[in-house]
Amino acid sequence: MEQINLELKAEANNYPSFQLTDRHLCDIELIMNGGFNPLNGFMSKIDYDSVVNNMRLGDGSLWSMPITLDATDEFISEISNSSKITLRDKEGFVLAMLKIQDIWQPDLEIEAKLVFGTNDIKHPGVNYLMKTSKRNYIGGKIEKVSLPHHYDFNKLRHSPNQLKSIFKAKKWDKVIAFQTRNPLHRAHFELTIRAMKELNANLLVHPVIGMTRPGDINHYARTRCYKYIMDEYPQSSAFLSLLPLAMRMGGPRETLLHAIIRKNYGCTHLIVGRDHAGPGLNSNNAPFYGPYEAQEMLEKYQDELGIEMVPFKFMVFTPKSGKYKAIDEVTDNEEYKTLSGTELRQLLDEGKGIPEWFTFKSVADELERSNPPLTKRGLTIFFTGLSGSGKSTLANGLVTKLLEEGSRPITLLDGDVVRTYLSSELGFSKEHRSINIKRIGYVASEITKNGGIAICAPIAPYEEDRRFNRELILNEGGYIEIFVNTPLEKCEERDSKGLYALARKGEIKEFTGISDPYEEPKDAEIVVNSSGENPEILVKQIYEKIVKMGFIEESK
Ligand code: PPS
Repeated sequence: MEQINLELKAEANNYPSFQLTDRHLCDIELIMNGGFNPLNGFMSKIDYDSVVNNMRLGDGSLWSMPITLDATDEFISEISNSSKITLRDKEGFVLAMLKIQDIWQPDLEIEAKLVFGTNDIKHPGVNYLMKTSKRNYIGGKIEKVSLPHHYDFNKLRHSPNQLKSIFKAKKWDKVIAFQTRNPLHRAHFELTIRAMKELNANLLVHPVIGMTRPGDINHYARTRCYKYIMDEYPQSSAFLSLLPLAMRMGGPRETLLHAIIRKNYGCTHLIVGRDHAGPGLNSNNAPFYGPYEAQEMLEKYQDELGIEMVPFKFMVFTPKSGKYKAIDEVTDNEEYKTLSGTELRQLLDEGKGIPEWFTFKSVADELERSNPPLTKRGLTIFFTGLSGSGKSTLANGLVTKLLEEGSRPITLLDGDVVRTYLSSELGFSKEHRSINIKRIGYVASEITKNGGIAICAPIAPYEEDRRFNRELILNEGGYIEIFVNTPLEKCEERDSKGLYALARKGEIKEFTGISDPYEEPKDAEIVVNSSGENPEILVKQIYEKIVKMGFIEESK
């Protein structure tokens, strides 16, 4: 159990409180436990500028990524007379005090360009900077009160000092770190075994369980898989420890950070693969970094860092020999098999089972259990469109059709119903509509997480709110947006509630389509227009599209 510094905790009550975000929580844990050594706080302006421009801290030591405490303008004005701030977790527990050294507004465009090499917001690191990060940075040293509290997998969490003493007790003087944000499969197992044999070294399986790339398999399922795979290594040859790092998916620069961290944790080697810490594809569907840029970067700095790179060999399965081989060992006409992350996800989505040549059965069973096929996974179907466009009629029809199919429980969150039971105090200003849509998104995400189907039918006129919901819900299961694209004239002609007439007379203000905008969805999965077709036909068409997308089994 972690010691709490009670004296500092008492002092902390004298200063303004700052609530740490998920990313700050990961960063502060590594600052306080020594994983980010030599950092002893969130970066000052001198360190930040130097890291962004030259990949070095102000004192000249190598450091590749900014580690910053971002805050809102309101918070900055609150602390104008304070010398320190108290950093708290989401429950309000005091973790540390920060002695304010400087406060500044960074140029986030320049930070993105220099650190990530791009301003493309498809890069998760850039996206975070532009969309989530606040526009002020507070730099200063940290006075530790307590490490963040964890309730899961406590036996698998270690500080650098703990790991170093474990290695010492085991008499391991050569330790290869294996960094990952994915489950381990046979190919990884084979390459780590090989590296251990070649270097006569032991292995630290050191997965990141802080923040990883959006859409990754959550760390609970992954860690259950790691625990299974550890049983496959020869006895006492490998050790599993979880790393609370918030990845930035910064490719080459992030690879250096991974090496610095592993050095701090007592490792002598780090396995680095093709496109290490890669952020996926950019807006032109091209990779952000070259496949070997990360390896080239570490190769250049490994001596200075004092940790050696083990370049990752791409392992493939050769059915004839029944073995894994490095791709450069496969002979000209020899057949070999691989499975990409996307192909694996597809097998899970379709419930086809993961082949045994690819992964251990225990891992396959765990992945199949935690990622049921699309036909059994939670789902949100989100209708959006003008008032009177036919959203409610279609949503109600679809509910009935899905009840006939009967695979999951259904909840209907119709616009009117939500405004009666969840949002009765809200009006129709932009701010209130956003709150309303986010409430619907939150409820739908919970239903989706628990394996049900949520059908929503608000107007949801703003793209930003719809995108927010989409991202939230996709973390939990499926998401289908249906744009009911019935022209305004038709909606107005119907005017079943008489609201358009009142809006035209100015008696209802901010009425969508008349005196308030409706931003048409650009990436809706399904688009329908209810002006001509009979609703039964439209519901049938929508249902068939959902079947085609794989979320409902085809009826026999
Ligand atoms: S929003 O924008 O998504 O929050 O709107 P929503 O909650 O779906 O609106 C539900 C119903 O409110 C009625 N109504 C209005 N709509 C648009 N603009 C204004 N100003 C307004 N005032 C009241 C309208 O009948 C919406 O119901 P539907 O079912 O869409 O016709």
